[in-house]
Amino acid sequence: MRGTRHRLRMGAGLLVTGALALSGCDSAAPEAAPSPSASPTPSRAFTAGADGVGDPYFPTYGNGGYDVGQYTVKVRYDPAKDELTGTTTVRATATADLSTFNLDLAGLTVSAVTVDGAPATHSRKRNELVIKPASGLINGNGFVAEITYAGKPKPLKNETLGEGGFVHTTDGAIALGQPESASTWFPVNDHPSDKATYDFEVTVPDGLTAISNGVPGGKASTGGWTTWKWSEKSPMASYLSTLVIGKFRITTATHKGRPVYNAVTTTVAKGNADASIAQTVKVADYLESVFGPYPFAAYGGVVISDSRISYALETQSRPVYAASFFRQGVDTEVVAHELAHQWFGDSVALAKWEDIWLNEGFATYAEWLWAEHTKAYTAKAAFDIRYAQVPAQVWKTPPGKPGAEQLFSESVYQRGGMTLHALRVAVGDKAFFEIVKTWAAEKRDSTATTAEFVALAERVSGKQLDALFDAWLYGTKKPAAPKRL
Ligand code: TRP
Ligand code: ZN
Repeated sequence: MRGTRHRLRMGAGLLVTGALALSGCDSAAPEAAPSPSASPTPSRAFTAGADGVGDPYFPTYGNGGYDVGQYTVKVRYDPAKDELTGTTTVRATATADLSTFNLDLAGLTVSAVTVDGAPATHSRKRNELVIKPASGLINGNGFVAEITYAGKPKPLKNETLGEGGFVHTTDGAIALGQPESASTWFPVNDHPSDKATYDFEVTVPDGLTAISNGVPGGKASTGGWTTWKWSEKSPMASYLSTLVIGKFRITTATHKGRPVYNAVTTTVAKGNADASIAQTVKVADYLESVFGPYPFAAYGGVVISDSRISYALETQSRPVYAASFFRQGVDTEVVAHELAHQWFGDSVALAKWEDIWLNEGFATYAEWLWAEHTKAYTAKAAFDIRYAQVPAQVWKTPPGKPGAEQLFSESVYQRGGMTLHALRVAVGDKAFFEIVKTWAAEKRDSTATTAEFVALAERVSGKQLDALFDAWLYGTKKPAAPKRL
């Protein structure tokens, strides 16, 4: 958890907290077309798409049988009535012969579904929307589903990990959460393994601003309502989508040819929050010097203030920060953390939630690198104090296999960050920074696993690293102090 909940300060400035049928290009004359009676089309067995992608920690998250390429989410939200109406268009490719397929949708009532323009039948099983197209979908073919829905959005409850998703605020709404959020405001294949591009069109009463991911597409008003457009053209995991509606102090600029869009809720006085997110491009430029090119087409940050949200989240190209981070002063550490996620977590995304340290360990280590850059403290000092002082629980919880309940535990964040420092000590600075840059470059706009990271680290460094990763990621005892291999 990179939130105020789990952060504990340790001394000055330190935190613990298909088989392609090969075209037989022989020179023989083409065969005569088989007559239908002699060679009937083999009948296809259309089956129901799975109601989960099979994530070991969250078996019901996402769905099977298709791969989404693009979402167009058009919603209208009326804060006075706390009512959302929407039409979401899902462009996908079938990965099996499907009689039905599911989308994740929490609460909200579906009034109509079409698939490829033809009415489809739909039913609900809790948070699963089951769609039965007029005819089966063929493996490998694209299809377009359009879902029309409405209702009072409600966040998803999660006993151990906290609420996620759409909440009504004093001046609007916030849709934010990890590992789940998106399904509270649009139908979605809600698992990071199915990245897609997004277009958002959000209509709110005149006077309110609706902020989402990616490049701003402007606004247009008619009849007392304003429609705000946003477009995320880099593949994005669904939990990295966000919608923030309210009144903001907005700052816009252009940096390296990309739009910068920063927003701070007017419910907090102008000050440290504004000054902190104003550092976004400066921090991004530093991280770019360490990790390689900034991966997205826009920059920004949104500062919110709502008693239910005490954390920050790396929503793609535009992280959302709780104002509480900036109560004591300017905080660029949290900005460095969320921006580091743009490379690690967002561009290089998780294939399964178990590998969460790939996100949080890297973002934590980036805080230490940023601190060293700004001369606040060194990465070595950050490692040393934790190695000496973290609670015993950190050594008992393997960050590479934390369990669903410990997904955002100190082990994932702090021992995850320490794992990278141990790697750096083992392979030396040159190989370490080459590993990190190569990881960001090779897995850009994609998903990845811990096993792939270990293999890449060994390839780039030319060193055998199994023992190191076994001890740091999977051991249940404090590993030996790192040394150069
Ligand atoms: N990934 C977030 C970060 O490290 C923290 C986080 C964990 C979070 N669970 C969340 C944020 C739920 C919002 C909602 O910055
Ligand atoms: Zn994080």
